[in-house]
Amino acid sequence: MAAHPIKERRNKIMCGIVGYVGAKECTAILVNSLTKLEYRGYDSAGIAVFEGDRIKTVKAKGKLKEGLIKKLENEPHFTATAGIGHTRWATHGEPSDINSHPIGNGRVSIVHNGIIENYRKLKEFLISKGYGFESQTDTEAVAKLLDYNYDGDPIDTIIRTIADIEGAYSLGIMFREHKNRIFAARKESPLIVGKGKGEMFIASDVTAIIEYTREYYLLEPGEVADITADGVTFYDMHKNVIEKELQVATWDVSAAEKGGYAHFMLKEICEQPDALKKTINPRIKNGLPDFSECGLTDEKLRSYHHIYIVGCGSAMHAGMVGKYVIEKLARTPVVVDIASEFRYRDPLLAPDDLVVIISQSGETADTLAALKLANSIGADTLAIVNVVGSSIAREAKMVMYTLAGPEISVCSTKAYMVQAAFMYLLAFRVAYARNAIDEEQCRQLISELSQIPSKVQKCVDDQTQYQKVASKLISADSLLYIGRGLDYALSMEGSLKLKEISYIHSESYAAGELKHGTISLIEDGMPVIAVATQHDLYEKTMSNIKEVKTRGATVVMVCSEDMKFDGNDVDYPVMLPLARDLLMPLVAVVPLQLIAYYTAALKNFDVDHPRNLAKSVTVE
Ligand code: AGP
Ligand code: GLU
Repeated sequence: MAAHPIKERRNKIMCGIVGYVGAKECTAILVNSLTKLEYRGYDSAGIAVFEGDRIKTVKAKGKLKEGLIKKLENEPHFTATAGIGHTRWATHGEPSDINSHPIGNGRVSIVHNGIIENYRKLKEFLISKGYGFESQTDTEAVAKLLDYNYDGDPIDTIIRTIADIEGAYSLGIMFREHKNRIFAARKESPLIVGKGKGEMFIASDVTAIIEYTREYYLLEPGEVADITADGVTFYDMHKNVIEKELQVATWDVSAAEKGGYAHFMLKEICEQPDALKKTINPRIKNGLPDFSECGLTDEKLRSYHHIYIVGCGSAMHAGMVGKYVIEKLARTPVVVDIASEFRYRDPLLAPDDLVVIISQSGETADTLAALKLANSIGADTLAIVNVVGSSIAREAKMVMYTLAGPEISVCSTKAYMVQAAFMYLLAFRVAYARNAIDEEQCRQLISELSQIPSKVQKCVDDQTQYQKVASKLISADSLLYIGRGLDYALSMEGSLKLKEISYIHSESYAAGELKHGTISLIEDGMPVIAVATQHDLYEKTMSNIKEVKTRGATVVMVCSEDMKFDGNDVDYPVMLPLARDLLMPLVAVVPLQLIAYYTAALKNFDVDHPRNLAKSVTVE
């Protein structure tokens, strides 16, 4: 049995780090950048700036508007041109003013993303050296250790300190004696250095600084950045200067704004036709699916015994669609796994298998761990990721980026759409490479896939039928999503959408399996959403619809526009523009997204920031 890597405690919390150094007044820039990271979820916020010869810190528990911004309004006027900022998601020490970041002692100030695993040991050591601690955070141990190690050279100090800390972290650092200079270091949690004209930035992701600059460097694990208004110098852990490649964010500022929509989720649902085109079109060469950008050759595709598809949540659901399509077209066995299961079930993975890793953020801890396991076993790994330069993108042997632009809403919509679209591109290429379909058939499939954005557009252009259905769901306690085959795979995604933003319990269920127990749940007025787009299974699914209808269910049926049904069996039909059955998940998912969206919106919930959820689940 393959010796699996010792389970690492991989805890990285999604909070927000920002920093600025330049000629402008920086407080407003820091706060504005923090607002762009609010979507990541947080409980407190703060900034530290160079004011004269000292470091001035303002921080507060709570959201920016009620906390930090209000506090800043009551501060005596001050000006500063360099500083750091933070939105905190507490792991050690309750959300409070004193536990908020930045944290320091006047000589050193830091902001921290992640968890310091050996902070207790560090605190004991520092207390023995006469240090006191004000906060309950793990972070404070790093701030005080930097102070203890400080020898006048910030880089030496940082390198020496990093050598003594264990855990997953990214840091923004200021030293009082080095005015108008900020430093950054990371081990795991992502951090970038933005390059402006006469000004520089640090940020947890590009969204925070895109309105100031599109150019940025990716800080890699084990690197330290020394940043002034004139530029940045990167060092490795041996203080060697490192040259790095400048990245350029291609999406525009509006992508990170609501653009007049009530919620990012609605905006991102409506962006799906465009996201599909951006993801699919560059991967079609001469009418055929093309994976040459990542080196996935037909020879490799012919060599794989199994294809594993691994992800979490919606990413895993996209993999479920992929399983049905790849197996149907290419007759190649596909195993879909939830990443947190895959990594611990000692999978029967072999070096001649392909593991497809799907992740929007590219930072999901379980998915990253599954990828590392696959790599350690020697399997080929292909990451399908939305965030450029993310941990999963860097760790995989091959990577293809979904080009959906930033997905701000916690609820995955356009990311799922383009992930599922990638499954089709992959399925067509695998089938073609293995001679399961010929060139003409492959061209035909690609041609029909290219028509899907216009069908999705039709679905988003008229949303009244989804609003009507939502109005019937808002008082439901629980409901079922049912379907067969691809419709069943898709119903999983529909159910998750509803649960995560409207907090109404739902379950997706194989329609043919209902009679083996679950149908006992059906009672008068219980909503059942049936997905019925597969013509060869339609009669069977209709039988299941009748079964639940006769037992009192309120039936919503999402089906293709050419499907016939008895009005007594379906209370709310949702008709879809026709496409090949195989491609219908890409169309049918839109009503399921919008039904969930309008249900949550009608309940006046915080659609973009559902309770208990973060945009990227970077904890185990
Ligand atoms: C879906 O709406 C959720 N946002 C969640 O299930 C998400 O798909 C999952 O956490 C995976 O995230 P990733 O794609 O960033 O890895
Ligand atoms: N572990 C640190 C704290 O609890 C940082 C958490 C975060 O990443 O926001 O303060």
